[in-house]
Amino acid sequence: MANIVLKDIYKEYNKNQPIIKNLNLEIEDGSFTVLLGASGCGKSTILRMVAGLEKETSGDIHIGNKNMKNIDPGDRNIAMVFQNYALYPTMTVKENIEFGLKNMKIPKKEREKKILEAVKIVGLEEFLNRKPQNLSGGQRQRVALARAIVKDPKVFLMDEPLSNLDAKLRTQIRTDLIELYQKLKTTFLYVTHDQIEAMSMGTKIILLDKGEIQQIGSPIEVYEKPKNVYTAKFIGSPPMNVVESKNLNNDYNFIPKEARFIGFRPEKVSLNKKAEESLEIKGQIITKELLGDQILYKINANIGIIQVKTFNKEAINNKDCTIFIKKENLHFFDENELRIEI
Ligand SMILES: Nc1ncnc2c1ncn2[C@@H]1O[C@H](COP(=O)(O)OP(=O)(O)OP(=O)(O)O)[C@@H](O)[C@H]1O
Ligand SMILES: [Mg+2]
Repeated sequence: MANIVLKDIYKEYNKNQPIIKNLNLEIEDGSFTVLLGASGCGKSTILRMVAGLEKETSGDIHIGNKNMKNIDPGDRNIAMVFQNYALYPTMTVKENIEFGLKNMKIPKKEREKKILEAVKIVGLEEFLNRKPQNLSGGQRQRVALARAIVKDPKVFLMDEPLSNLDAKLRTQIRTDLIELYQKLKTTFLYVTHDQIEAMSMGTKIILLDKGEIQQIGSPIEVYEKPKNVYTAKFIGSPPMNVVESKNLNNDYNFIPKEARFIGFRPEKVSLNKKAEESLEIKGQIITKELLGDQILYKINANIGIIQVKTFNKEAINNKDCTIFIKKENLHFFDENELRIEI
């Protein structure tokens, strides 16, 4: 187990084109920390610098209080799992898992023991002699996980390991990863652009935009108290509605004067059901999606397009509707798009 500390990290691939300008952060020992952000924001770059596969332009990275400057990837006590499994096609599952252990000069008996433990954890006992080409995508990703597990790393680094899998497998392996984390209690640093993955797996989320930290917090913190409009709009499914206060029809005494933007989550509104001390917005339903236990509406309101999620059994058939949002479910942001605490 180990923590990871990034100190004043600056990274450019091409001269004077910084990808990461000045990053300082600590990934706590034993946490499942998720680096979350849109495509191209620098997540893989950060992970690869921690792994030693990419060199920082300046700054320091410490793993377990040891400076990693000039320490090879193989000597960093980490294991990395990638999006594309990266298995050796000519080797069996067992040989794939064993390969790294042989490199580490671990005796045969111990290798066998470790392999058996690892395949048990990921549920691949029956597949030891298969070649990767005869495995499903999910099984291949499990081999990649087993290969990481046998190394007993201090830190697991994972770069979008689920993105090549279909939706059903993704949810399944997501649960497997949570279980794996609970068993091993090692530090996990996990990269994804998928906020649902981040919310469901992480003990800590670090939301990045263009190489800069927007917010660090537990999933519930970033969901309930987004620090700015960017975070508000990134987290949630669908994300938070954010409208400009100047476009509201009425005055409300519970809206702070400095609130330029008002946010509310699609799932925290009531449709056509009047509620006390609420914001009231009129609109027309454009589309509705029936999702089994939920109904998603897209609504054209005078303050913009709004998404609403209800948990009713019956969909609303009228076009005209009124949305009520209780004051405790409103989020306020100032002209700099920063959260106003009330
Ligand atoms: N080897 C490279 N040379 C030059 N630019 C690079 C290199 N690798 C990445 N970049 C650039 O650095 C930025 C960050 O890339 P990075 O791969 O870290 O993003 P990411 O957040 O992992 O994105 P994604 O979610 O698409 O994987 C991008 O603008 C990318 O084009
Ligand atoms: Mg990436």
